[in-house]
Amino acid sequence: MNSRYTERRGKLGSILPENTAVVIAGASTQYRNADSSHAFRQDSNFWYLSGFNEPESTLVLLINENNAVQSIAFVPEKDELKEIWDGYRAGPEGAMKDHNFDLAYNNTEINDRLPDLLAGRNQVFYPVGKSQSLDANVIEWIKTAKSKDRHSSTIDIADASSKVGNQRLIKDTDEIETMKKACMISAEAHVEAMKFVQPGMTEQEMEAFYQYQFAKRGGRFSAYTPIIAGGENACVLHYIENSKPLKDGDLLLVDAGCEFELYASDITRTYPINGKFSSAQLAIYEIVLEAQVKSIEAISTKNNVMDAQIVSEKIITQGLIDLGILNGSMEDLHAAGAFKAFYMHKIGHWLGIDVHDAGDYMEDGEFMKFKPGMITTVEPGIYISSSADVDEKWKGIGIRIEDDILVTANGNENLTDLVPSDPKEIEALMA
Ligand code: GLY
Ligand code: MN
Ligand code: MN
Repeated sequence: MNSRYTERRGKLGSILPENTAVVIAGASTQYRNADSSHAFRQDSNFWYLSGFNEPESTLVLLINENNAVQSIAFVPEKDELKEIWDGYRAGPEGAMKDHNFDLAYNNTEINDRLPDLLAGRNQVFYPVGKSQSLDANVIEWIKTAKSKDRHSSTIDIADASSKVGNQRLIKDTDEIETMKKACMISAEAHVEAMKFVQPGMTEQEMEAFYQYQFAKRGGRFSAYTPIIAGGENACVLHYIENSKPLKDGDLLLVDAGCEFELYASDITRTYPINGKFSSAQLAIYEIVLEAQVKSIEAISTKNNVMDAQIVSEKIITQGLIDLGILNGSMEDLHAAGAFKAFYMHKIGHWLGIDVHDAGDYMEDGEFMKFKPGMITTVEPGIYISSSADVDEKWKGIGIRIEDDILVTANGNENLTDLVPSDPKEIEALMA
C-alpha cells in the first residue's frame, strides 16, 4: 500500500488543533437516467486523503494528543449478491488492510457510531455547505453526541475546505509524477488531432478523436467536458455543444485534457482547420502567444498570482492597439479595463485533482505568492464575436492558448509544451 495517503492525513492533522475531528464524505453514485449510472468519480478531497475508490464512503480523522491522527473509514459492506452485479467491494476488513485505516466499519453503521466518535471533541471540520445531507448529518451527530452527556462542552463546526484545499495546492512527488503523465497524454492527443483535422469534419468527430487518444494512453475520462469550437463558436467561452461542421478557413479552438488517476490536465490549442492561418487570424494569434509566453515567464516564486494576469492584460491591450482594435494609450486603456471586451477571463487557475483545483488565491489579505510544487494553468485569449464593433476582418476570431505550469524552486516547468503553440510549428505539423 502506498503510504502517500497516510502521510497526507498526518500532515493535515499536524495543522489542526488537538482534540478535533475531520469528516470527509466520499461521492455517491450518480444516475444519468432511471437506474443507468454514470461512471463513478470519487470526491476529490476524499480521494486525496484515502485513495479509496468506492462510492458511499466516509472518512473520519480524529486529531488526538500531539496531533496524532486516527483514521476511521465507513465503507460499503461486503455483499456477494451486489458484487455479482456491480463488482468487488473491499468491505471494512479489505479497506483497513489495503488503505492503512486504523478502523473501518460498514457505512450502514455511521449514524450509530459518529456521535460517540465526536463526543468530547472541541471542533468538527468538514466541507461546510458542500452537501445538504452532510450538513444535516453533522448537526444531527453533534446533537446526539451532546445529548449523551449534558455537561459536555460544545462541539464547534468549522470548515475543512480551505485546510484541505491549501494542502492540495502544493503537490507532492507522487502527484507531480501523476500530473506529468496526465499532461503528456493530453499533449500527445493535441498533436495527433492537429495532424488529423480536415475541413468537413465535425466538432463531435474531433471530440471523439480526442477521447480515443486519451483513452488509448490510459486516460479514460476527460478532466472536464471538452470545448471543441470551430470558427466563431470559440467566442462562447464554455462552448460544449460540439456538434457543428468544421469549415475551411476557420480556426478550431480545442480546450481538452484527460484525467489520469483522478488528476487533471488542461490544454487549449487553436489551430487552422485547413492547416494554414489567414493573415488576420495570425495577427490575433501572435498577440495571444506573446501574452502566453510572457505570462509563463512571470510564473516564479518571486511573483504572485496577479503578476502574470497583469502581464497578459498589458500585452493584449498593446496588441489590440497595434491592430487598431482599441484606440488610446496602453496605460489608460489598461486602467479602464478596455481589454475585457475581448479578454474576459482570468489568466489561469490551480490544477490538480479538480480541473479548477482547490486552494486559495489570497493569503493574509494579499495575492498568494507562487511556491514550488504549485501547478497553475496559463491561458490568455482574445475573442472577437461578430457583434463586436470592429473591422469585419477580425470578426468571428476566437483564440486561446493554454499550458499547465509547475512552479519550481528556480522558475517553472511547462508540463504541456510537447504540443506546439508556435504558428509556424503548427503549420509544419499539419502540412
Ligand atoms: N478547461 C477549463 C478551463 O480552461 O478553465
Ligand atoms: Mn484552464
Ligand atoms: Mn482549459
